[in-house]
Amino acid sequence: MSLEEREGGRRVKLQLSKGGHVMKSIGAFIFTIVVTAAMISSCNEDTTNDPGGSTPDASLFAHVTQTDPFTSYTLFPNADSVTSGTLNGSTAHQPLIRVSMNDTAFSVLQAGVLPPGTRFPNGSVVFKEIITGGQTSLYAVMMKDIASEFAGNGWLWAEYYPDGRVAISVEGNGSACVACHSLEQGLQNDFVRTFERQN
Ligand code: HEC
Repeated sequence: MSLEEREGGRRVKLQLSKGGHVMKSIGAFIFTIVVTAAMISSCNEDTTNDPGGSTPDASLFAHVTQTDPFTSYTLFPNADSVTSGTLNGSTAHQPLIRVSMNDTAFSVLQAGVLPPGTRFPNGSVVFKEIITGGQTSLYAVMMKDIASEFAGNGWLWAEYYPDGRVAISVEGNGSACVACHSLEQGLQNDFVRTFERQN
């Protein structure tokens, strides 16, 4: 019909115009539904089939809960496993915390400490669970990723609820975090503060 319309010129087009218009409207309507459905289903695919996640926050969350899950991390050495922090700035996360790290981070420690001048390598994750009423209620995450546009002092910084909702976005480049993580021995320990409460 569209061919006829184009080649037949104005007269044919006029004759068809009423029915054609309706057909076109229905066609456009169906097209819109199909495209919308395709968009919705592809969005779903992004979050369910792509463990990398579709946003920087989803990607980091997937990394620390699926790809390299925090449940497999090593507890921060020589520090109480669960504690109410007593450091300068411990008030940031209360009442109880549990800090652990992945193998990449742990691999550079010697006798539990970061040797002078050493930096955590890319891919290091240090993970703090905030425990409320006996349950983990918040995840605070630091992941070394020097080249990322979201890095703040070489680390990605974010906070999530256990269901994946974002409390502090990684896209803030650690603006809510790095100042306090530079206090006390933060600078010499590559911004990791838990070294200060080792036994
Ligand atoms: C007011 C100070 C302060 C602020 C702000 C702060 N932190 Fe911390 N953070 C600490 C201290 C102190 C520790 C050491 C453990 C403790 O005592 O809570 C710590 C520990 C951590 C740890 C475990 C690794 C380590 O450094 O020992 C992570 C991960 C972490 N914080 C993430 C964050 C993120 C992400 C933000 C920003 C959204 C943030 N923190 C903001 C003070 C702070």
